[in-house]
Amino acid sequence: MTDHIQSAQSRIFIKNGTIVNDDQSFHADIYIEDGIIKQVGTNLVIPGGARTIDARGKFVMPGGIDTHTHFQMPFMGTVSADDFYSGTKAALAGGTTMIIDFVIPQKGESLLDAYEKWRGWADAKVCCDYGLHVAVTWWNDQVSKEMDVLCSEKGVNSYKVFMAYKDVFMLDDDEIYHCFKRCKELKALPMVHAENGHLIAIKSRELLQQGVSGPEGHLQSRPEEVEEEATTRAITIADQAGAPLYVVHVMSKSSANVISKARREGKIVFGEPIAAGLGTDGTHHYNKCWRHAAGHVMGPPLRADPTTPGYLMDLLANNDLQLTGTDNCTFNADQKAIGKDNFTRIPNGVNGVEDRMSIIWEKGVYSGKMDPCRFVAVTSATAAKVFNIYPKKGRIAVGSDADIVIWNGEATRTISAKTHHQAVDFNIFEGMTVHGVPEYVITGGSIVMDEGQLKVTQGLGRFVPTPVNSQTVFGRVGNREKSRQPQIVEREPYTGPVVEIKEED
Ligand code: URP
Ligand code: ZN
Ligand code: ZN
Ligand code: ZN
Repeated sequence: MTDHIQSAQSRIFIKNGTIVNDDQSFHADIYIEDGIIKQVGTNLVIPGGARTIDARGKFVMPGGIDTHTHFQMPFMGTVSADDFYSGTKAALAGGTTMIIDFVIPQKGESLLDAYEKWRGWADAKVCCDYGLHVAVTWWNDQVSKEMDVLCSEKGVNSYKVFMAYKDVFMLDDDEIYHCFKRCKELKALPMVHAENGHLIAIKSRELLQQGVSGPEGHLQSRPEEVEEEATTRAITIADQAGAPLYVVHVMSKSSANVISKARREGKIVFGEPIAAGLGTDGTHHYNKCWRHAAGHVMGPPLRADPTTPGYLMDLLANNDLQLTGTDNCTFNADQKAIGKDNFTRIPNGVNGVEDRMSIIWEKGVYSGKMDPCRFVAVTSATAAKVFNIYPKKGRIAVGSDADIVIWNGEATRTISAKTHHQAVDFNIFEGMTVHGVPEYVITGGSIVMDEGQLKVTQGLGRFVPTPVNSQTVFGRVGNREKSRQPQIVEREPYTGPVVEIKEED
């Protein structure tokens, strides 16, 4: 009996579905064994004991990859409410089968120590596979050496710098340059939180002096121009360092335009809008209910211009922006309330990990802006390519991991904090009805969403090392560097007089 159950769980036959990859969709069946896709095609010969799922009328797609989460993150005096258990459980409930979280060392803390700390938190709790980016929050030779160890031994290929959070995580331009240059040497991808931290600090003080203490102050202290300027500066620094660049949480039209223009100029830049920015807007900062307004506080802020989400979706649909995460970093009411009298103390962060796939389906596919192939590109395949785990992840193909979502594109659900699987007591998409529902979710060959019923296992997920030198990121970098060697002009030495410099007394 036990044998039968085990074989039934490790062998899955998905028939009659429409398989969607980023480059093609087609009708075929899939056979999975021991966590790997073993066959894709028609008239497959299936061993006995397999569980059969009829996916007629449904899309069979790679499970989502959320490029940007902060589970149980110590931040602004507290720890984010969703940990690696509730966070990955919620991810699976929404059709996401892998997340990439951020190790964030304190200034002066060893990157390796911080990495081991995050691994310790995550390994025991994750219900789906995960990877790690590492933030560089200070700079010296030790940091530079540890980046090498993280790349060569620990499965890290991406480093985030902050241009905001002055005195906490922020680096200055020269440090950012050194960090980006080091990334290029290691063939790792630099990532940036692009907001001008000096201006935010000054504007926050001014607003508090003017009597603005509520969540609306958060938005006003970080105008769009502050994000736009930092995005331009980060791209300039990366380009001067000969490095590619990944801009996390692109929140404004103007910042998205900067990225789009840079790409047109041939710069190697990737832009990541997030579920929050694609699904809602910053008008909520002005809500009369303090908790509601504070629930929308994140950095960079959701923008008050209500046409922003649609605009970001247009750019995402047309590859001016490339892939999506969520920046899921949740805080309950009592945690947000740390900043009840001072908006600068409201812990920054919102939800998204559970709802990203549905939000993008609703606002991207159902609205007619993108087709299902583009949906796969922006929710999984491009992330897998950029972070160099493709086609193990992000593709339905023989040999790929069995991380699969069977998606009903016509079914609807209404998002609510009352029914979501996250630990947090608030949802920025509250009341929104979205098309696109995962009916089955398979992670590492295990069915965790079964006809809409969620059955996850804590600790089942594995750490997925991300190797350096992604060709999607570094394919152009070598030749570009050769074409940019400094020029030296051979000429006769100057032999005329030279004015004498007088020493100052
Ligand atoms: O508000 C945010 N974004 N919180 C998480 C930290 C970060 O900057 O990504
Ligand atoms: Zn950030
Ligand atoms: Zn309220
Ligand atoms: Zn973040």
